[in-house]
Amino acid sequence: MSIPNIFDDLLSRKSLFKNKEILRHDHSPRRLPHRDEEINKISYNLVEALYGHIPSNMTLYGVTGAGKTAVTSYVCQHLEEKGREKGRNVETIMVNCRQIDTQYRVLTFIGNSLLEEHEDEEIPFTGWPTDRVMKELVKRMDKRSGVFIIVLDEIDHLVRKAGDDLLYNLTNINSMLKVSRACVIGISNDLKFTDFLDPRVKSRLGQLDILFKPYDAQQLQDILRQRSDAALVEGVLGAGVIELCSALAAQEHGDARCALDLLRISTEKAEFAGDEIVLSHHVRTAQHQIESDQIAPVISSLPTQQKLVLASILINEHTGLKNIQTGEVYEIYRQACKHIRQSPLTQRRISGIIQNLDMLGLITARTISRGRYGRTKEITSSIPKNLEAIPLMVESEEDLKPIFEHSYNHQSRLA
Ligand SMILES: Nc1ncnc2c1ncn2[C@@H]1O[C@H](COP(=O)(O)OP(=O)(O)OP(=O)(O)O)[C@@H](O)[C@H]1O
Ligand SMILES: [Mg+2]
Repeated sequence: MSIPNIFDDLLSRKSLFKNKEILRHDHSPRRLPHRDEEINKISYNLVEALYGHIPSNMTLYGVTGAGKTAVTSYVCQHLEEKGREKGRNVETIMVNCRQIDTQYRVLTFIGNSLLEEHEDEEIPFTGWPTDRVMKELVKRMDKRSGVFIIVLDEIDHLVRKAGDDLLYNLTNINSMLKVSRACVIGISNDLKFTDFLDPRVKSRLGQLDILFKPYDAQQLQDILRQRSDAALVEGVLGAGVIELCSALAAQEHGDARCALDLLRISTEKAEFAGDEIVLSHHVRTAQHQIESDQIAPVISSLPTQQKLVLASILINEHTGLKNIQTGEVYEIYRQACKHIRQSPLTQRRISGIIQNLDMLGLITARTISRGRYGRTKEITSSIPKNLEAIPLMVESEEDLKPIFEHSYNHQSRLA
C-alpha cells in the first residue's frame, strides 16, 4: 500500500482564504481608505514634475503602520503612469534606508537603477569616492532627461547610523544637474529625526512636512473590510471579528500592519483548527502569538543582570506571589546571584533595571505610597502567559541554568 502524502489532507481542505497575498504587508491595494488628504497633498506637490518643474522636497512623518510607504508608492505609481501617458519622463526611485543603510550604498543603488544596459558601467558596491558616484548619478540623470523623485524610506535609520551627508548631497543635486530635475521625499516614523540634521539640510528637506495621524478603530475597520473582501472567502468572518482586530490594533497605536496581521493570523488559526468561521477566540490566540513573537527577542537580548532581575520577578510569581515590592525582588535577586557566584548590584541599581524592564513593556511597576514608610513599587510581569520566558533566558545564557533548575524543581524560594 502506498503511503499517503502528508500534503494531501491539507490540499483537500477548503481554504478560508481566497487570496492570502492581499493581506501581506507588501501588497499594494488599489484603494487606500482614509488617506485622501495625504494623497492630495503629496500629489498636489508632485504634479509639478509633469510640467517639468521641480516639486518641493518633502518629509512624511507618522507612527509605524500609518500608511506612509503605501501612500507614497501609490502616488508614485500614478505619477509615473501619467508621465508615460503625457510623454514626460518622470521617474521615481524608492530606497529603503533600513536595508540600504549607508550613503555610499544608497547612491550606488540610485545610480545603478538608472543604468542603461550596454552603455553604462555598473557602479561597484565599494571603492569609488563619493563625489565620483555623485557625478556619475548626475550624468545618468541628465542623460535620461526628466524629473526624478527620490524617496528615502525609513531615512531616520540611516541618519542615526551614518549622519546626514546623504541628505546634504541629494538635496543639493539640482545645482549639479543641467537638464534634469530632482526632488527628495524623506519618510520617517520618528518625529524628532530632523533634530539630528544640520540646519541647512533641515531647511532644504523640510520644505513641505506631512503628518500621517494614527488610524482610529473605525478607520482600521474600513481598511480591514476592504482588504478582507478580496482576500477571504465570503462569510468566513464571524460577527465582531473585524471590530475586535481593529480595536486591538487601535489600542496599540493605530497600526494598519498590526490589524492586517491579526486578521491574517486569526484566519490561519481557524483554518488550522479545521473551523469554518473565524471567531473572536481565534483573534485572541493570534494576538497572544503576535505578542510572544515580539517579546521573545527582547527577553533573549537582555543583558545578564537584567535577565536576573526579570527572573527574580518571575520566580516570585511562580511561587504564587503577586504585586511584589522592590525589596522582595532584590532579596530573590541577591540569592540568585549567590547561587551562580556573581556579585550582586546595589538595590539602587536594581531599581533602575526595574524601570528599564517597565519601559520595555516586560513588567508593570506601579509606585505606591506606604505613608510614613515612604514609597515603593508594586511589580507584576506583563509577559503573556503562553510565553515560556524562563527557558528562553536560559537558552540565551547558559550560566543562569542552575537558578531556574533549583527554583522550578523545588517550587520554593531560593535557599
Ligand atoms: N489606508 C490604507 N488602506 C489599506 N491598507 C493600508 C492603508 N494604510 C496602510 N495600509 C496597509 O498597512 C500596512 C502598513 O502600511 P505602511 O507600510 O504604508 O506603513 P508605514 O507608515 O510605512 O509604516 P512604517 O513606519 O513601519 O514603515 C501595509 O500593508 C499597507 O498596505
Ligand atoms: Mg514604511
